[in-house]
Parts: sequence; structure tokens; C-alpha cells
Amino acid sequence: MTSRSLGIILNGVTGRMGYRQHLVRSILASRSQGGVPLSDGTRVVPEPVLVGRSAGKLKRIAEQHGLDRWTTDLDVALSDDGMAIYFDAQVTTVREQAIKSAIAAGKHVYTEKPLAETLDGALGLARAAQQAGICDGVVQDKLFLPGLVKLRRLVDGGFFGRILSLRGEFGYWVFEGDWQPGQRPSWNYRAQDGGGIVTDMFCHWSYVLEHLLGPVRAVTATAVTHIPQRWDEHGEPYEATADDAAYAVFELEGGVIAQINSSWCVRVHREELVEFQIDGTHGSAVAGLRGCKAQHRSTTPMPSWNPDIPATEAFRDQWQEVPDNTEFDNGFKVQWESYIRHVCEGTPFPHDFMSGARGVQLAEAGLRSSETGCRVELEELVL
Ligand SMILES: NC(=O)c1ccc[n+]([C@@H]2O[C@H](COP(=O)([O-])OP(=O)(O)OC[C@H]3O[C@@H](n4cnc5c(N)ncnc54)[C@H](O)[C@@H]3O)[C@@H](O)[C@H]2O)c1
Repeated sequence: MTSRSLGIILNGVTGRMGYRQHLVRSILASRSQGGVPLSDGTRVVPEPVLVGRSAGKLKRIAEQHGLDRWTTDLDVALSDDGMAIYFDAQVTTVREQAIKSAIAAGKHVYTEKPLAETLDGALGLARAAQQAGICDGVVQDKLFLPGLVKLRRLVDGGFFGRILSLRGEFGYWVFEGDWQPGQRPSWNYRAQDGGGIVTDMFCHWSYVLEHLLGPVRAVTATAVTHIPQRWDEHGEPYEATADDAAYAVFELEGGVIAQINSSWCVRVHREELVEFQIDGTHGSAVAGLRGCKAQHRSTTPMPSWNPDIPATEAFRDQWQEVPDNTEFDNGFKVQWESYIRHVCEGTPFPHDFMSGARGVQLAEAGLRSSETGCRVELEELVL
């Protein structure tokens, strides 16, 4: 068995996503398994160089994981011909410029979402990537969650009959930061720093809906800031200028209606932090991050409305668990391995910059709908 190394610049590795999901759970996990296997049996071992702003933090992370390459100078990393891939998990506001530099340096680029702050910016990156002939990719981790894989399996198997609608609930209570620390970075709640739940989550809903049921053709949304003041990582109060909840209806190509609530101001009375229910003429299913339950038309009970008596049925017990039927690895890692195969042997990778741009387009349209009180149609994007 042969193996070869693949140089990967990991920028933003001191952050929540960059460290935990991308460095530890994906790149290092893959290294410890001997690398990513290609179709000819060769194993590709990722060789990361860590990039960030704090030398102290980078050094600590490198030492903790037995890595010896890190730098606070992105240009130095980009000028290294041994580095084939640039990955970006920085805060969103600085992403576009860094990716432009990486493309100019001839690197393949993989990035966290959203691809850019604006649709113009995202399309500009997609064009630049196409002109440079690089392999471009955007993180679309939700597609690799066991719950959504099972939901997709039901769609592919024709379980639902004619699909009517999808309803999604995403959210949990994010503490304000005064009497208990907030569990998300404070920039998420400042519009001027790239925050806001629409920008954060609609790019996920774009590819989730497109992948499961079809592309979004129109959106009607109300985005609000329920909690106007929060406390940051240093315990200092700040004005929360970004939306922290969004209530939206998405009209999909083919006529399916999807309605998704996204909120950081909701307490969870669900089985998982996100749940999607699909209803079709022949069956329904509810999927979370990991689990998925289904109810076929043949096992659908016939409840009748009678407020004078207590509920006569345990409705949740009437659903059947959809089995795993496979072993699920970490979704970020699965997508990393798929991207590495795309770079190394040209296998298809649909999660490209254009797909990322559609996510940014949906977020922009959602915010415009909220500002104007109007339904906003989405034009098909072309390069
Ligand atoms: N795929 C997902 O499910 C998912 C989930 C959360 C966040 N994200 C995305 O990941 C990115 C990072 O989010 P996070 O939650 O890890 O945030 P974070 O605040 O924990 O990390 C941000 C990183 O960017 C760096 N940074 C901050 N300001 C910077 C600046 N001005 N210049 C250069 N670097 C700077 C920080 O040092 C840190 O390394 C965001 O774009 C976010 O949208 C994706």
C-alpha cells in the first residue's frame, strides 16, 4: 500500500469550528486512520499547517496534537508550493479576501459557510475559482448527518408518495451572557461583525432543501432580534444588532412548501436541536441530527378532535424508527474525505462555490423579505 501527503492550510483553527470539527474531528482523525483511501488503494495523508492570529494559541494547539507547522502569516503559508489546499474557518467577514488570495496563489479552496457576506461576493469567488480551474468546495455538513441521510433514503425509496410539505424546527436557548456565559461567539449577535441567524442558517437550509426536495424558488421571512442586549466573552454588555430568530416559508421547485423556524431564543421541547418533518400522501417522517421516525399511511391512526377528554393516544409511540443500516462517521470528516478525493482523483463534489452562492442568495432574499414584508423570488444563478 502506498501513501502520499497532501499539504492543507487550515485558517481559523483557533475558533470553535476550525478546531473541533475540522482539525480534531476531521483532519487529525483521518491522519490517525492512515489517511484517506483513493480508488487505487493509495492513502492520502493530510499534512496541515495551522494559521491564525495568535501565535500563543497556535503553538499550544500544535504542541497538544504533535504538529510542528503553524504561522500567523497567511501569505507565507500561501507561498508554500507544498500546500495544495486552503481551508477557511475564520469569521465570515474576512473570508472573501482570504479566499481570493488563496485562489490567486493557485490553491484548491474548501471553506466553511457562508461562502461570502454578499451574493456578489460569493459569485465573484465562484467565477475566480472557475477561471483558475481549481477545486472549490463549501462545508455542507448537515447533509451527512445520520438523520438527514435516513430522510434522504426515504425520499429516494419513494416512501412519501407525493411530497406535500416540510416543517423544520431549529434552535435552542443561547444564554445572554450576564448570569451564565453565552454558548456561542458574541459576533453572531452583531450584524456589523457578520452575525445574524438568517446569514448563519439559511445557507444550510438552502442545500438541505435542495438536496432533499428541490431548489428554493421563493421565500417569505420574518427576522427579528428578540434579545436586544447580550454580554460578550469578557462579560461586557453590547447591543445585539443582528437577528436572533427567523420564521420563514420556502417555496420549492415542484411545489413543495417548506416552513422552517430558526431561533436562538427558544427552549427545546423536541428530541433533537433540529427536526424536520416531511409529510407526503403515502407517509410522513421526522428526522433529527441522528434519529428518524416514519409513519406509513397504512399505520396512520385516525384521531378525532375532542377537547372534553384527555388525549386518548400516545402519538409519538405510533412512529417506527428508521434503522441505521450502516455506520455513520462524523459528517464534517466524511465531507472532508470526499473533497480530498475530488482534489486527488477528480471524483464528483456537488458542494461547490455555486452551491454555496445559492445559500448566500437565499439568506439575502430572506433578509430582503423581512425588511420589505414581501415574498421574494429567487432567480436561477449562472456564472
Ligand atoms: N458548518 C456549521 O455548522 C457551522 C457552525 C458554526 C459556525 N460556522 C461557520 O464557521 C465560521 C467560524 O465560526 P465559529 O463559530 O468557529 O467562530 P469562532 O469565533 O469560534 O472562530 C472564529 C475564528 O476566526 C478568527 N477571527 C476572528 N476575527 C478575525 C479577524 N478579524 N481576522 C481573522 N481571523 C479572525 C478567530 O481567531 C477564530 O479562529 C463562521 O463563518 C461560521 O459561519 C459553521
